[in-house]
Amino acid sequence: MKLIFVLALALHVYVTNTAGYNYKEVLQKSLLFYEAQRSGKLPADQRVTWRKDSALNDKGVNGEDLTGGYYDAGDCVKFGFQMSFTVTVLAWGLLDHEAGYKAAGVVEDTRKAIKWGTDYFLKAHVSENVFYAQVGSGYIDHQYWVRPEDLTMERPAYMVNVTNPGSDLAAETAAALAASYLVFKDVNATYANILLTHAKQLYNFAYKNRGKYTDAFADVRCCYNSSGYEDELIWGAAWLYRATKDKTYLTYVEEVYPTIQYYIGFNWDQKIGGADVLLAKLTGDSKYLTKTKNYCDNMIENQQRTPKGLIFIAEWGSLMTTAYLMEICLEAAALGANAEKYRAEAKKQIDYMVGSTGFSYVVGFGSKYPLHVHHRAASCPNPPAKCDWTQFSSTEPNPHVLTGALVGGPGADDDYTDVRSDYVHNEVATYYNSGFQTVVATLIELGYSD
Ligand SMILES: *[C@@H]1O[C@H](CO)[C@@H](O)[C@H](O)[C@H]1NC(C)=O
Ligand SMILES: *[C@@H]1O[C@H](CO)[C@@H](O)[C@H](O)[C@H]1NC(C)=O
Ligand SMILES: *[C@@H]1O[C@H](CO)[C@@H](O)[C@H](O)[C@H]1NC(C)=O
Repeated sequence: MKLIFVLALALHVYVTNTAGYNYKEVLQKSLLFYEAQRSGKLPADQRVTWRKDSALNDKGVNGEDLTGGYYDAGDCVKFGFQMSFTVTVLAWGLLDHEAGYKAAGVVEDTRKAIKWGTDYFLKAHVSENVFYAQVGSGYIDHQYWVRPEDLTMERPAYMVNVTNPGSDLAAETAAALAASYLVFKDVNATYANILLTHAKQLYNFAYKNRGKYTDAFADVRCCYNSSGYEDELIWGAAWLYRATKDKTYLTYVEEVYPTIQYYIGFNWDQKIGGADVLLAKLTGDSKYLTKTKNYCDNMIENQQRTPKGLIFIAEWGSLMTTAYLMEICLEAAALGANAEKYRAEAKKQIDYMVGSTGFSYVVGFGSKYPLHVHHRAASCPNPPAKCDWTQFSSTEPNPHVLTGALVGGPGADDDYTDVRSDYVHNEVATYYNSGFQTVVATLIELGYSD
C-alpha cells in the first residue's frame, strides 16, 4: 500500500514537472502581438482588426515617407534601435530554428513580421550615410494617452549622419538587414538583395563614422541611452560575414574586439553575448564558445533567483532579460555546450513565464494572464468612445486583448500586480517578445511543446 502511494506520488511529481505547455500556441500568439504593434497603413490580411491605419503623416525633415514600422512598446514612438534589434532577433530565430516555426505553422507570419520592419528600414535609409533613427518624440508622445489611430501631437523625425553618427544604431540595422537577407534569399532574391545592399552601406557608414546615437540627438535620452557601439560593430560584422562570407568582416571583428570595455550579455543595448555565440558557430573558434559557456554557467549557477525559480537579472523587463540569456545558452547548447543542462533550464524559465506559477505573463495565453497591460492602443475602447488618461487610471481590464504580448514581469520576490500604471512590470515591447519567441521556437524544435 505504502509503496504504491510513494510510486503514485513520484509519478505525480514526474508528471507535474514535465507537464508541457502548448508552446506552439504561444508562438502563434506572439506573432499576433507584432501585428498589434504595426504603425502605418495596415494590409488587407491584418488579423488584429481592432488596430487601424495610423501615423500616416510620419515624415523625414525633407518630407521623406517614414510611415510603417513598429511602435516600440505601450507608447507610439518608433525607436529605431529597438526596432532593428527586434528584427535581427526575429530573423536569427527563423533562420536557425525554422523547424520550430514550421511545426507551429507560422513561418509565413514570421516573414511578414520581419518584413514589416525591413520595409521601414529601407525607407528610413534615405541615402548612404543618412538614416532616420526615430519617429516621434519620447518626451512629447509620453505626455498623451491616446489611440495610435488618433495621434495629433507633433511627431518629429531624428536622423544620424556623418556629422552626428550613430554606429550602434547603423550597425544594428545592418545586422537586421543582413539576417533578413538570409531569411528572404530563397523566398524573393530581388528583395533579399536590396536588403543586403542597404546592410553593407549601413555597416560601412557605422564603421567609418564612429559615435553613439545617444550623442547624435537628444530626444532618445528620454528612454534608450546606448552604452557604446563597439559591440554592435562586432555583431553587425558577424552578420555581414554570415550573409556574404566576405572575410573582410571578420577582420573588423578582430580589430574591434580588443577595444571593447566591459560588455556582457545580450539585450537591445548589449550585443556581445549574441555575437560570441554567433561567431562560435560561424568560425568554429573555441574562444567564443568558451566565453558563452562560462557566461551561461555563471548565470545559471550564481545569478539571483526568485523564490519560485526565475533567474532574476533586472527589475525592469525581468522576463525578457532572462529570455535573452536563455536564447544565448540554447545557441551554445546547439553547438554542443552543456546541452542538457541549458535546455532543461530554458524550459524551466519559459514555463515560469507561460504559467508554472499559476499565472501566465503572456497576454491571452492560459486561463490567468495580465488584463491591465500598460499599452495605449489596447486600453482604448473602440471609437467613437474617447480615450485619454481616464483609461490609463481605470481599474477596468483593457477592452482589447493584446494577444501574445509578454509583459515586463515580476520583481525579485515573484511580486507582480496587474495594474496599468506599472510600466516597469506591466508594459510590453517588440523586443521583449523577439528573444522570448526565439526561445519558444527553439523549445518547439527540440520537441518540448505539448
Ligand atoms: C545630421 O544629424 C543631426 C542629428 O540628428 C541633425 O541635427 C542635423 O541637422 C543633420 N544634418 C543634416 C545636414 O541634415
Ligand atoms: C520580390 O521583391 C520585389 C522587391 O521588393 C518586389 O517588387 C516583388 O513584387 C517581389 N516578388 C514577389 C513574388 O513577391
Ligand atoms: C540618458 O543620459 C542622459 C545624460 O546624457 C540622462 O540625463 C538621462 O537620464 C539618461 N536616460 C536614461 C533613460 O537613462
